[in-house]
Amino acid sequence: AEGIVIAIDGPSGSGKSSTAKGVARARELRYLDTGAMYRAMTWWMLDQGIDVDDADSVAEASSRPVITMGTDPAAPTVDVDGTDVAAAIRTQEVTGSVSAVSAVPAVRERLVALQRETIARACREAAGIVVEGRDITTVVAPDAPVKIFLTASAEARANRRSKEVDTDDIAATQADLARRDLLDSTRSDSPLTQTEDALELETSNLTLDEVIAIVVKLADEAV
Ligand code: C5P
Repeated sequence: AEGIVIAIDGPSGSGKSSTAKGVARARELRYLDTGAMYRAMTWWMLDQGIDVDDADSVAEASSRPVITMGTDPAAPTVDVDGTDVAAAIRTQEVTGSVSAVSAVPAVRERLVALQRETIARACREAAGIVVEGRDITTVVAPDAPVKIFLTASAEARANRRSKEVDTDDIAATQADLARRDLLDSTRSDSPLTQTEDALELETSNLTLDEVIAIVVKLADEAV
């Protein structure tokens, strides 16, 4: 049997990761955090001393790091050249540079190919996969049977992200999310866009369990 693909896009802090992981665990599917792949690429560029604002240098170097994703939703992993970078990719420095790196077409070409390989493998070897990011419903897996665009108010997103990164400065968090969303939705290659065939789920007033239950129901109806 062919595995199911559940594609989830949305802006930063909309609850994509928690939702995607919860759905994958509930239905024994694999899980892929594509944002972690762009962060891993960015971590490596910074580690190499590459100027992330120089798109040509970024493009030229982008074929070098070997990025490996573990897709168990209970324990997802991200390695670069054999090094576990799960914690290192969540720093302010990486978060501040990732939108510049992810706007470079050569970076996207390479990571999208890796994402599609991971999806194909999950559909062969498991019941399917939940994939989250910014261009999953539009570019990576436009034919996915379940396509969701998660949204939440700027306030709700800043509150959630502030808890995640353990800061009291919600205004600064909101400003950072707004900056990243603007860059991610205005870049020319694969911008974050909401398409008509993706179901919009506004989560500001829903609990995580409620959001997971809605997506699980959609997935059950799709098989
Ligand atoms: O999801 P997360 O916030 O960790 O993503 C980090 C960054 O990676 C985003 O701000 C965006 O620049 C980039 N990204 C992307 N395409 C994806 C997933 C993430 O460009 N599919």
